[in-house]
Amino acid sequence: MPAYAIIGGQWGDEGKGKVIDYLARRADCVVRYAGGNNAGHTVVNERGKFQLHLVPSGICWPGVRGIIGNGVVVDPDVLLGELDGLNARGIDTRSLYISERAHVIMPYHVLQDQLEEKARGSGAIGTTGRGVGPAYMDKAGRIGIRMGELLDIEGLRPRLERVLGFKNALITKVLGGKALDLDELLAKCQVWADRLGSYIQPTEQIIEDLLDQGARVILEGAQGTLLDLDHGSYPYVTSSSPSIGGACTGLGLNPQAIVEVVGVYKAYCTRVGGGPMPTEMHGPKADELREKAHEFGTTTGRARRIGWFDALAGRYSRQINGFTGMVLTRLDILDGLPSVRICVGYRADGRELDRFPANTNLLARCQPIYEEMPGWDQPTASATRLSQLPPQAAAYVRRIEELVGCQARLISTGPSREESILIEPVIP
Ligand code: IMP
Repeated sequence: MPAYAIIGGQWGDEGKGKVIDYLARRADCVVRYAGGNNAGHTVVNERGKFQLHLVPSGICWPGVRGIIGNGVVVDPDVLLGELDGLNARGIDTRSLYISERAHVIMPYHVLQDQLEEKARGSGAIGTTGRGVGPAYMDKAGRIGIRMGELLDIEGLRPRLERVLGFKNALITKVLGGKALDLDELLAKCQVWADRLGSYIQPTEQIIEDLLDQGARVILEGAQGTLLDLDHGSYPYVTSSSPSIGGACTGLGLNPQAIVEVVGVYKAYCTRVGGGPMPTEMHGPKADELREKAHEFGTTTGRARRIGWFDALAGRYSRQINGFTGMVLTRLDILDGLPSVRICVGYRADGRELDRFPANTNLLARCQPIYEEMPGWDQPTASATRLSQLPPQAAAYVRRIEELVGCQARLISTGPSREESILIEPVIP
């Protein structure tokens, strides 16, 4: 009963969509366990380019089942838009299941997210504004609405009435927004139930049955470990658990089913939104890399912050998740640079740190300690064999492996499935 977890090792946007689509050819099922439509997973294949926000990235392979687990927060309008878009391009989405326990992102969550960000002023987190944080707050506060409740509108009415009374008071009296109408909201819930009802299922049971039958299940991480609510650079984090613990609670999964935990790292760092990023680069060099790599958010279009590879943070992610291997993506973006840098430690307040600090103010004061390595002129772009890598690029990969503490199983050298160097299969 093998499950294979694929998890972001940095601040998200590591290229997990391509990696999961690549691996899904050998899988029977791909499941999302955390986050919501704040995620944007890009998949490029012979059918074109797909930008997925909620639907698991294996959807383009016929016969691969997709599951949205209980740990995900679902905006039904976004999901319906995504399903319609996929269907219009000939992708069959009937094999998708959504957990009855997954929480719904309601229109008031989106409003609350945007109004709260505005109210934070210069202390804004830089959220994606999709209502993800407020939906998880309500889940923890026990006033959330779950997907399964949409199937019983009459039972939902009194609960939603109470919740909406509270939400409207918050929105109008504290945040200065406009109240939402209960009947309009219930009408929306009815439309969601009519269109999504057949997808809503007890997914923990379905996953267990699949694993019992020997199916290969990919656990698709969203965001990255450094954005984890507990382990990331709090409070500049998302509100879910992208790291491995989230996979068990976000699916109702027996941890013993997990046979591989693979960390996806980009060959450099990016971050969207606020919060410290010790290796951040500024000025023309950063702009050049950003343009070359098209580092603009899939979900919000925001310019991503760019930095050198941070091996100290990468090692911390490896420890938190127990990575059994790594996938290194976007090596080709560094082609042609005269030299490349890797951050091997931090210096702050006159001392050296060898661990990613919990204190975000301290993290903001950290100066990176760099190791500089020669760059490479020959392209790595589109390489499919290790032997095609220039020796300097191969040395860069080896140094990252050493510092992070796990071996590269796959190197991605471009957006399409073929642009990959397979070193050791993740799924046999
Ligand atoms: P939220 O998840 O929308 O609440 O945003 C919280 C923080 O996580 C912000 O800094 C976002 O930019 C960041 N974030 C959320 N989802 C992603 C993602 O998929 N990739 C990269 N950053 C993300």
